[in-house]
Amino acid sequence: MGSSLAIPALTKDLVRVLIDADSISRRVDELAHQINDAYANIEGRLILVGVLKGSFILTADLCRKLTIPHVVDFIALSSYSGDRTSGNVRLLMDTRENMEDKHVLIIEDILDSGYTLDYLIRNFKARKPASVKTLVLLDKPDRHTVPVEIDYQGFTIPDVWVVGYGLDYNERYRTLPYIAEMYPQE
Ligand code: IMP
Ligand code: MG
Repeated sequence: MGSSLAIPALTKDLVRVLIDADSISRRVDELAHQINDAYANIEGRLILVGVLKGSFILTADLCRKLTIPHVVDFIALSSYSGDRTSGNVRLLMDTRENMEDKHVLIIEDILDSGYTLDYLIRNFKARKPASVKTLVLLDKPDRHTVPVEIDYQGFTIPDVWVVGYGLDYNERYRTLPYIAEMYPQE
């Protein structure tokens, strides 16, 4: 009994493990505690909105650590030109829940330029929710272009490309249990 999954080794594209699986799990625990406290006495529902695809693993882990009632929803976005700093955010798939008078917590994998979250916060506020807050697992402060208010943050990281725990490079490495730094690619 007690089988455990082997930790996948770093491939030649990956420089190092930046945040290991245990550290991620402990931090997600702490964030869940903060959210359980903060939303303990709210009126109306809490809606978690995971931003696809990058935050699907984070959303799944976080929601299972919440003891307060909540609904899980998802939204999918992409940069129009494929350039992550273009600021042309495009809505690919909208949420299903009606947000009016509900508390909305956006769950995002990483804050880079800030365009994605800035777009989402504005878009959601127009739907007349009771509140809109943000949780970001990873923050790259050196890359911020648009100011965005973060309510819950996991880790601050340097300006490097990271993969794993939901984050990808051309759809690769999403399911690594840790977050790894990648060598700069062509
Ligand atoms: P922003 O709109 O520039 O803040 O971009 C945020 C989005 O870019 C994230 O949701 C990710 O999808 C993607 N992204 C930014 N940096 C990284 C990274 O280091 N690894 C993987 N995806 C990233
Ligand atoms: Mg994302």
